[in-house]
Amino acid sequence: MRILVTGGAGYIGSHACLELAGRGQEFVIADNFSNSSPRVLERLATLLGQAPALRQVDLRDRAAVDALFAGERFDAVIHFAALKAVGESCERPLDYFDNNIGGTIHLLQAMRSQGVHRLVFSSSATVYGDPDSVPVREDAPLRVTNPYGRTKLVMEQLIGDLCASDPGFHAVNLRYFNPVGAHASGLIGEAPGGVPNNLMPYVCQVAVRQRERLAVFGGDWPTVDGTGVRDYIHVVDLARAHADALEFLLREARSANINLGTGRGTSVLELVRAFEDASGHAVPFDIVPRRPGDVAEVYADPSLAQELLGWRAEHGIEAMCRDAWRWQSRNPRGYEAAATEAPAADGAS
Ligand SMILES: NC(=O)c1ccc[n+]([C@@H]2O[C@H](COP(=O)([O-])OP(=O)(O)OC[C@H]3O[C@@H](n4cnc5c(N)ncnc54)[C@H](O)[C@@H]3O)[C@@H](O)[C@H]2O)c1
Repeated sequence: MRILVTGGAGYIGSHACLELAGRGQEFVIADNFSNSSPRVLERLATLLGQAPALRQVDLRDRAAVDALFAGERFDAVIHFAALKAVGESCERPLDYFDNNIGGTIHLLQAMRSQGVHRLVFSSSATVYGDPDSVPVREDAPLRVTNPYGRTKLVMEQLIGDLCASDPGFHAVNLRYFNPVGAHASGLIGEAPGGVPNNLMPYVCQVAVRQRERLAVFGGDWPTVDGTGVRDYIHVVDLARAHADALEFLLREARSANINLGTGRGTSVLELVRAFEDASGHAVPFDIVPRRPGDVAEVYADPSLAQELLGWRAEHGIEAMCRDAWRWQSRNPRGYEAAATEAPAADGAS
């Protein structure tokens, strides 16, 4: 198979590329580097022993997307490319609609016109909003609470309509819970620009003293210790599921919506403690008021992934923290500087 990986230079996409290479799949990355660094490609080259194929394309540019598909053959697409920051999506909703929905329409049109009919799509647990109950199954009501989530829901719906209109077109929408961690090499990982939106990179930056203290939003949720509970999933487990989803599409030629989580909830304070243990560094924090729109507890029922893909998460929270710390401590400025060869300060291997 020859696979187009949109957003393949990003956090999750770069890990998925390694997984594809490990399975002997040929892939081509399409990215505009709007939220990633071209240096990711150098790191991937080190890990792969050769430079990955790259097409610098902006999915908002329909002519460029058409030209990409007209110029070469793809058997399937994994579609990671999107803007993903909830807060930013509230400030710039039109940019999110344009990039995420507009880009996806261009991609689907090009796929249709060139007869490419297998798609693995990066969706999100955000499509469940504040679920009525946990663990969340795929048939739970979908209700989004912000423009970013709306783009994910609309993209799922567009893809669903396309599948319904064309019996030969099949897609797997993978609904990620909370991806964290990094590749065991310490060479690729999550490198947010500016203030991190997600908990783990924030915790990492507090541990390396780039930020003073962690703000924990809400200590009075009805949870095990009053802090919010989420289903953290190691990015390497997540990456594996994409290759499994491609095999599912080849084998079964049908579409599905599939949760990707561990099925275990972890509170903010549990994650902080696990990170302190893994890193040997204190993470000072303050409990501050809840943020509007946050929810108490969200974790997946991942049984459909096991049933359809034969996939289950293998890494626990300790491994997620250890690998996140290895990445952070060796690359305190993300991809801006060369990775340090020295072992992490905690002696992580
Ligand atoms: N990281 C998470 O917490 C999370 C959770 C659920 C779902 N997701 C989804 O998973 C996907 C990947 O997330 P990530 O964390 O790797 O994000 P990321 O920002 O690291 O990667 C996205 C990549 O897409 C590229 N991109 C964005 N718009 C583009 C465009 N118009 N044309 C070409 N390239 C473009 C960016 O440059 C970046 O390299 C996204 O669709 C995101 O919405 C992420």
